[in-house]
Amino acid sequence: MNSADSSQNPAAQMPHGRGLQTDFNAEFNNDLDYPRLGNVTFRRGTLTDNQNALFEEHWPQLGRLLADEPLDIPAWFGREGAKTIVEIGSGTGTSTAAMAPLEKDTNIVAVELYKPGLAKLLGSIIRNDIENIRMVRGDGIEVLMRMFAPESLDGIRIFFPDPWPKARHHKRRIIQSGTLNLFASRLKPGGVLHVATDHAGYTEWINELVEVEPSLDYKGWPWPECPILTDRQVITKFEGKGLDKEHVITEYLWEKK
Ligand SMILES: C[S@@+](CC[C@H](N)C(=O)[O-])C[C@H]1O[C@@H](n2cnc3c(N)ncnc32)[C@H](O)[C@@H]1O
Repeated sequence: MNSADSSQNPAAQMPHGRGLQTDFNAEFNNDLDYPRLGNVTFRRGTLTDNQNALFEEHWPQLGRLLADEPLDIPAWFGREGAKTIVEIGSGTGTSTAAMAPLEKDTNIVAVELYKPGLAKLLGSIIRNDIENIRMVRGDGIEVLMRMFAPESLDGIRIFFPDPWPKARHHKRRIIQSGTLNLFASRLKPGGVLHVATDHAGYTEWINELVEVEPSLDYKGWPWPECPILTDRQVITKFEGKGLDKEHVITEYLWEKK
């Protein structure tokens, strides 16, 4: 850690990597599969001076680090009774920032490990005066486990999760039988899980898992009556090209029973 500025600067204090780790099989007394990341280290990244200044000013209000205590969502967003959606792996927040203004009645919590990605999203939030996004830095699985109560969420989004294409890395994929069980546990009855991938191998992987969690009702795509916004608003370069067979986008929706 850079000791020169870490005492004053919240961005510099942010740890990299995953932090707290739960033994999910022991915790839930099951034999489901959870991502095994071993000693994968996550990119630390550096922020520009501008991004550091933005962090210093706004992170204390808009951001949190993974912690072993539940979030007080109404207090954090300053309102009662709004829907709440968690997006895991928001990256640079392109979809997050494009969707949030169309769902102003919904609290959006963007969870990401990658600090420069969060810095970009923070920049969009401030530039565009977006009021309904907050951010958590940490492993999305641990954030759901430790910071959200069971049956507290209206939606969980995972757009273009890391595909870990090599066979020996498939066990690192975030969509697994155990994580589907955890996502289901955090959703309210009627809550929605939305996943999108453009990776053919990951599509095959998810296709095998769509019916595996008994408390999730697989809805396929599209699902016109879906109670949350599902249009990601962003045309990726692959979608723009349209015909690129290598990058067909597959979207998945489930409803918590
Ligand atoms: C391929 S990118 C996609 C980013 C974004 N959703 C998009 O559509 O552009 C995957 C992102 O997920 C993040 N990520 C991977 N595993 C994560 C985890 N366990 N918790 C939170 N974020 C994670 C990575 O840092 C990366 O930014």
